[in-house]
Amino acid sequence: RENPNQALFEIHTQASRVYHMILTSTELGQEAKKYLYDRGIDDEIINRFGIGLAPNEPNVLYKSLANKFEEKVLSESGLFTFTENNIYDSFQNRIMFPLMNEYGQVIAFSGRIWQENQINRKEAKYKNSTTTPIFNKSYELYNLNIAKPLINKSKEVYLMEGFMDVIAAYKVGITNVVATMGTALTENHVSKLSRLAKSFVLLYDGDKAGQNATYKSLDLLRGKKVQIVTVPDRLDPDEYEKQYPGALKNLMIQGRISEVEFLIDYLKPDNLASLQDQTNFLDQMIPIIANVASLTAQDAYIKKLSETVKDFDYQSIENQVNRLRPNN
Ligand code: CTP
Ligand code: MN
Ligand code: MN
Ligand code: MN
Ligand code: MN
Repeated sequence: RENPNQALFEIHTQASRVYHMILTSTELGQEAKKYLYDRGIDDEIINRFGIGLAPNEPNVLYKSLANKFEEKVLSESGLFTFTENNIYDSFQNRIMFPLMNEYGQVIAFSGRIWQENQINRKEAKYKNSTTTPIFNKSYELYNLNIAKPLINKSKEVYLMEGFMDVIAAYKVGITNVVATMGTALTENHVSKLSRLAKSFVLLYDGDKAGQNATYKSLDLLRGKKVQIVTVPDRLDPDEYEKQYPGALKNLMIQGRISEVEFLIDYLKPDNLASLQDQTNFLDQMIPIIANVASLTAQDAYIKKLSETVKDFDYQSIENQVNRLRPNN
């Protein structure tokens, strides 16, 4: 007997062909392609990432797939919404990003709004497939199918938030990149990536949410080699490359900081005027620095801290670090 999920993989493959066809050869598709071109996505990228369009109609996909699959498969796929009297396509008038598992099988979709009236109606920017027997968002990473051999070769992986960020990196020639499709990194993601990568570069959005997500991810990545890139001006990687053409590649390679440098920036309160605020901040940072193995790195961090905290000098911070050093 064939794999019970085989029909689910098959229906997703066929759906992605339908969506791709609608984007590339209908009138509405022409309009949607203008949106993509404006965002720097050309035909090569549309093909490479299998991007498509769900039409602005209630059941085009259903009509084209209903007679090819059993009812159980149609309903389990999540591609259709069954009401008492009707069956609708779950995705309507959205630019469709097929989500592949690490073996390149289409397992789900994420659809983005693209027309002004959808933005005005405050529709969710992205709508994702529901959890199905072949898709669970907390296990999957966007672009892992393409990035896998490159991660394995470089032993390093960049973690980003979104589809457009991965595509921006691809455009500047960096391909060992995956996205969590949102912000929550999970144990499952980490163990999956740890089979391929020895080091991790966190490159989340430069806004507060992205920084909070970075901080949370550091917990899950404890004990692994981690570097962080903070995107300036609260931009995300895609917006950054658009704002400063040519700058993303350099940021990804030269702009990495260590975990401790990130923590100094992240944990530093906005106001460090009072002695109490400075002491609290130092009490958080000193155990972290004492645990850094390299003395040269410790030295640099103590220097950075002493420049940040005006009422404590290098020597007094170093004394405190020395007291906490393991085996001391
Ligand atoms: N996301 C989602 N549902 C939403 C919003 C976001 O699943 N309603 C996921 C998407 O995978 C998205 C990622 O979270 O790519 C990051 O969200 P955000 O930074 O808000 O979107 P961008 O990726 O920047 O989207 P775009 O550039 O297309 O505006
Ligand atoms: Mn974001
Ligand atoms: Mn973003
Ligand atoms: Mn973006
Ligand atoms: Mn000082």
